[in-house]
Order: sequence, then C-alpha cells, then structure tokens
Amino acid sequence: MRHFLNTADWSRAELEAMLADARRLKKSPIGDALKDKTIALLFFNNSLRTRTSFDIGATQLGGHAVVLSPTGGMWPLEFADGAVMLGEAEEHVKEATKVLSRYADLIGVRSFPKFQNWAEDREDRVLKAIARWSDVPVINLETITHPCQEMAHILALKERFEQAGRGPLDGKKYVLTWTYHPKPLNTAVANSALMAAAKFGMKVTLLCPTEDYILDDRYIEQATKDCGANGHALTITHDIEEAYDGAEIVYCKSWGALPFFGNWEPEKAIRDRFRHFIVDEKKMAMTDDALVSHCLPMRRNVKMTDAVFDSKNCIAYDEAENRLHVQKAIMKALAG
Ligand code: CP
Repeated sequence: MRHFLNTADWSRAELEAMLADARRLKKSPIGDALKDKTIALLFFNNSLRTRTSFDIGATQLGGHAVVLSPTGGMWPLEFADGAVMLGEAEEHVKEATKVLSRYADLIGVRSFPKFQNWAEDREDRVLKAIARWSDVPVINLETITHPCQEMAHILALKERFEQAGRGPLDGKKYVLTWTYHPKPLNTAVANSALMAAAKFGMKVTLLCPTEDYILDDRYIEQATKDCGANGHALTITHDIEEAYDGAEIVYCKSWGALPFFGNWEPEKAIRDRFRHFIVDEKKMAMTDDALVSHCLPMRRNVKMTDAVFDSKNCIAYDEAENRLHVQKAIMKALAG
C-alpha cells in the first residue's frame, strides 16, 4: 500500500504514468475504475477546488466521497502519542483513522500549518499521524506541500507547450515568484511547485524579496538534487529582472517568511515593501512569451494584474480543471 503525500516520494516515471492516465480520463471522463469505492475527505481547512474536484472525480468513476470537517461535524481529535486526554479532544487520531479505514478505501487530508512555530508545522503532524494509522492509502489534499496541485500544474504546462509546438518541459526556464499578499500564507504550493519543476527537468529559479523568504531547506535540497540530476542548477535570486529575463513559465504564489512564524508583525513591515513583486505586463514583457499560472484562490491586482491573469498566456483555469483529471488518476492508482 502506498500513500500520495508528496511528489518527492514518487519517481518521475511513476508521476508521468499518472499524468498519462489523467490525459485519458480527460478525454473519457466517465468510467467505473472506482466502482463501489469510497474516499473519506478530511478538511481541517477551507476549500473550493479540492473538495469539489475530489467529490466529482470519485462520482465520475463510479465511486463516492464522504466529506468530513473536524472543525464542524466531527469529534475534535488528539494527535499526540500517550496523551492524557483531558483537553478539548474527544477522540484520538489512531481510532478515528482506523475506523475510517474500515469504511473507506482512500482517505484524503487537508491540514494547514498553525502558523505559530515552523519547527512544529514542518513536522506535518496531522498528515503523518493519519498516514501512520491508516490501513488504506492516504492522499495529501494540502498540508505543508500540495502535490495534487502541482500534478495539475505540470499537466497544464505540458498541454499548452505541446499545443503551441514548443516542445517538452525539459530545459525550460521556470520561475517561481513570491508575490505580495496582505497576510502570511502557507508555503505548501511553493514547496511543491519548486520540487515538481525540478523533477520534471526544468531550469528552476526561485524569486523572492529577501533571504527570509527562501523556502524550507528540505525543499530547497530536494529541488537542488533533482535539478542537478537533470543537468541544471537551482537559482535563487531577489532580482526581478534576472528572474524574468527569458522565462518560459512564471508561477506566482505568496507565502510567509519562515523565520517570522508566530511573530508576524515585523514580517508585515518587510512584506509591505515588496508589493511591486506583482506579476504585471511589464515583467511579462521580459519573458520568452512565458505561460503564467496561480493555484487559486488569488487576489487579483495584488498578486497578478487583471491584464496578465485574463491573457492567453495564463493557464490557471486549465490547471484548476486538471485537478479533476489528475486526482482521478491518483485515486485509481492508489485504490486499484
Ligand atoms: N488550489 C486549491 O487547492 O484550491 P482550494 O483551496 O479551493 O481547494
């Protein structure tokens, strides 16, 4: 039994096979590959795309999704081993997960960081505990990485470059740019984008305002390793012109600076100086006709201008649609 917790746990060949199946499912969406199978979806945080696409995807393949929200409708859970449960939690994650494993064939988990202490959040405690106790495969619906999003992103890039006759992803200049947002956000999409772009053979540049915004070492190390295996070097820069010059893909996301976890006031003073990191027409003009995307939800004219988002180069809708197709392929691969 294998879980789908992080693209780093899967080889490029395995991920390519899932993407090939996602393409087949995109052409022929209705089937019975998940006939009589059920996925339990645990949402500790809000969602529009993930919740809808998993539910509809399971239905289209003859399966069924049960959506559970521990913030309303489920018993509050305890995650610590050996806890004396005198607090708010009524149930331990071990029992909850083992019981769900008796009902469902797959379990999906969305659990964002608490944004107080990165040393704790980086342990991904909720996902790891559920994966540990589950007797059925577990899928990461976004915790401190977001592998389903990045599979959809990679598929959208492949499709658009193929349609335009611009060849494979290998060797393309890929820029992951931090953008401003009034609040510090999760690093999950950025972590996964960095790793996926490196694994799929692209020349990856991470653009962020200062050293404080460099992603966690473990993702930088994984991306450096995968870039190296593909004959490239990971570039980290704070220089907008250097990053955008000749870029073929621009992926934008905002995230909070890791050294300021739980101490966000001083971080706000820094981030407020970098509103100009917005993806706009002037920056896009420096690229090599780059495709641009965002995972959504996205604040328009804060992270990306309307003109860029609504341009023909923006593949955000394709990426969002592809969530449905890649997740069906992932569910098939795990439940099969
Ligand atoms: N991109 C994404 O995961 O969207 P939701 O948060 O709406 O699920």
